[in-house]
Amino acid sequence: MGIMRIGHVDLNVLDIKATRDYYENIMGLTVEREDADGTLYMKCWDEWDKYSMVFRPSDESTFNKVAYKVEKDSDLDELKAKIEAYGIAAEILPAGTVAECGRILKFISPSDHEFNLYAEKTFVGKATGDRNPAPWPIDAKGIKPHWLDHTALMTAGPEKLMAAAKFFQEVLDFKLAEQICVGPEGSLQAAAFLSCSSTPHDIAFIAGPEAGMHHASFFLDGWSDILRAADIMGMSNVKIDVTPQRHGVTRGETIYFFEPSGHRLETFAGLGYLVQPDMPTITWTEDELWRGIFYHTGEEAGSFTSAYTLMATK
Ligand SMILES: [Fe+2]
Repeated sequence: MGIMRIGHVDLNVLDIKATRDYYENIMGLTVEREDADGTLYMKCWDEWDKYSMVFRPSDESTFNKVAYKVEKDSDLDELKAKIEAYGIAAEILPAGTVAECGRILKFISPSDHEFNLYAEKTFVGKATGDRNPAPWPIDAKGIKPHWLDHTALMTAGPEKLMAAAKFFQEVLDFKLAEQICVGPEGSLQAAAFLSCSSTPHDIAFIAGPEAGMHHASFFLDGWSDILRAADIMGMSNVKIDVTPQRHGVTRGETIYFFEPSGHRLETFAGLGYLVQPDMPTITWTEDELWRGIFYHTGEEAGSFTSAYTLMATK
């Protein structure tokens, strides 16, 4: 039983044509499905399931939900029982309710975000195939990240964050890889970085003024790819929030930037370290909070605390 990885992020966007152009030509994702209402389903070249991003035309730029993939369909029943036993309502939606997916286990996390778990999604394969593959697709455009790596969700204050982090550890079997602790004797988590694999984080929660999405993050190999990505952003007049930097947390190499509807994205590079079940949780203290987030300067940068995606209102 278990959650393997992030599956997709579902966002409302303001201008679907601009969204398509941006994600195809600058980010280098491909459109794998387009619904009659204009909804786009896109993927990165190194992903094999049908899509990892959903963009719905809307008059608001907001967050709908995030989905994670489990190993097998029966995991959904086991997880439903565990979630309900914990005191959180959960429901199974029939196959096809979410495009290209099998049964969905839907619940609202203590962070107030809708989560969908699924075991099956239409397989399309990597752009490089699975027979004597090239190391990367020669015809891919733009930044061309490997895959959607993680999302960072914002909670309304540290109490919601701590409830969510506890739930993800105790019910969904995530490991707390890193945390930023503030307040009296560090008793409040201001951020939590949780892993369900061997990577430093598959999801992060950041305490803020209200629930929302802080960013969605795409994986690149290393620092030279981060520099190249920033070059492409410069050539394309992409609004960069934080120029290439290293996170103290996760040791990741990063750029924060905004896509056309104002959703913050990240290109994240580097393995960081391997999370093993017995790895001790890394704690960043309040006096080194910003060192944890932006290691070189140790100072707040960009609009980290003031810009984020609001929750969908409809
Ligand atoms: Fe991130």
